Amino acid sequence: MSMVSKFISSTAIILISINSFADTDYQPLGKAADDLSKQAQWNLSISPTGEGLPAGKGTAAQGSKIFALQCAGCHGPEGIGASADPLMGEVGSLASEYPEKTVNSYWPYATTLFDYIRRAMPINAPFSLTADEVYALSAYILSQDGIIAADVELNQENLPQVAMPNRDGFIAIYPE
Ligand code: HEC
Repeated sequence: MSMVSKFISSTAIILISINSFADTDYQPLGKAADDLSKQAQWNLSISPTGEGLPAGKGTAAQGSKIFALQCAGCHGPEGIGASADPLMGEVGSLASEYPEKTVNSYWPYATTLFDYIRRAMPINAPFSLTADEVYALSAYILSQDGIIAADVELNQENLPQVAMPNRDGFIAIYPE
């Protein structure tokens, strides 16, 4: 076979395979974003004011049981960290020689805790918890460092009122 005919035959093969990708049975990945009611399920953001929080309630005692079953495996018993981040403890450590960013030592708003757990945890089963369970888990995590009292029942009204220890430790990028 001459060089020219070799070139022509390999070009023909390439053309055939490109053509077969253009077949009508080609299935693109994903789905068209045309159903607004389904998009709403991803539009879940909760603001520091509590806007977006669902109705519900839960206590630390309830949260402690859920935590042991569904969270401690990765975050450690007492939430001090294992294969996944520590969530509790180290409050007041940020300005020390060994600063540790936990939810309780670092996060400025308790509403973010609810938002994060609801959309992402347990990491192997996001969206599997009810609103009551997420309030209960938030109450457990916050009460472990005395940020709320152990007997407080958290709900959509009082969660935004929780004063996080590092609330004033942030500098606004765009001061007013
Ligand atoms: C299978 C392991 C696993 C389980 C179970 C799990 N988590 Fe997590 N969690 C992670 C990992 C990994 C991260 C870090 C994710 C990242 O940084 O993207 C994380 C991050 C978090 C954070 C954010 C911590 C931070 O400082 O950024 C919170 C809050 C949290 N998890 C809460 C929970 C709660 C509550 C449960 C139980 C309902 C739970 N997790 C169960 C693995 C797990």
